[in-house]
Amino acid sequence: MKSSIFITRKLPDEIVKSLEQHFDIKMWEEEDTPVPRSVLLRETKDVEGIYCLLTDTIDEEVIEGAPHLKVISNMAVGFNNIDIGAAEQRGIVVTNTPGVLTETTADLTFTLLMSTARRIVEASDFLRNGNWDTWSPMLLTGQEIHGSTLGIIGLGRIGEAVARRARGFGMDLLYYNRSRKTEKEEELGIQYRELHELLKESDFVCVMIPYSPHVHHFIGKDELALMNKEAILINTSRGGIVDEEALYEALVNKQIWGAGLDVFEEEPVSADHPLLSLPNVVTLPHIGSASVKTRLQMAQLAADNIIHVLNDKSPLTPVNS
Ligand code: DGY
Repeated sequence: MKSSIFITRKLPDEIVKSLEQHFDIKMWEEEDTPVPRSVLLRETKDVEGIYCLLTDTIDEEVIEGAPHLKVISNMAVGFNNIDIGAAEQRGIVVTNTPGVLTETTADLTFTLLMSTARRIVEASDFLRNGNWDTWSPMLLTGQEIHGSTLGIIGLGRIGEAVARRARGFGMDLLYYNRSRKTEKEEELGIQYRELHELLKESDFVCVMIPYSPHVHHFIGKDELALMNKEAILINTSRGGIVDEEALYEALVNKQIWGAGLDVFEEEPVSADHPLLSLPNVVTLPHIGSASVKTRLQMAQLAADNIIHVLNDKSPLTPVNS
């Protein structure tokens, strides 16, 4: 008899087909609406596998309500939507999708850095709104990218990939990480700094750490106060790492020059979110890994993880032991 799995969102046909060969599948058939909580709880009661997205909260209630559950496969590298402790207690394997999205997310991070520094969105709106009367010496002037200093908070896979891009732009590189990575320092031409030093010295501060409750509001009022007036904060990691109220204040009071944000504390945000009202903020709807190729690779890796675990093989990319 085939194992049964629940997929929390409509996936591309080719991914569903690869899963159908192995499992009885139930799937939330909407592409752009998360599965309602009541449906999630009902449909996972009898399954052995859950294929989920970062929009699904897989907490103790879901896990306890699914006595046959063996694997939770998240189609994301971040897994703060899953209660790992509760899964571990039940011996449930949790998997994510690292690696396949590294370069694509680094591309987006650098795009955001450049768009913020050179006011690309604002300049495009200016033109489209019919405001371009003449070329003027200081019209829409932004910040230099080449020759500036980039401080990376969290030198993981994506942080390293951002550092490689920054080298090509002749930037000086600093990093802060929980543990120092001396082997990477020469390879990437990057220097370690304590957090407060990095914040003071950087023209761009890029937040690249995974979210956990320990790093909630890791960048808050005090940290923003250390940044210089021309500095730009970039966050493509998770919204909860930055205190949005403190960031709003810092931007309005011109304590820092700008911010580029792909992620928010509560997602999705509505159009009246205060940070969206500021011209010196470039905002995106969590699209770090959103290239067609990468999203398909993430979807397939998440599928392959479930196929492996429910066929008694080792998971390809487990987040727990
Ligand atoms: C992730 O994978 O965690 C990103 O936030 C979405 O690709």
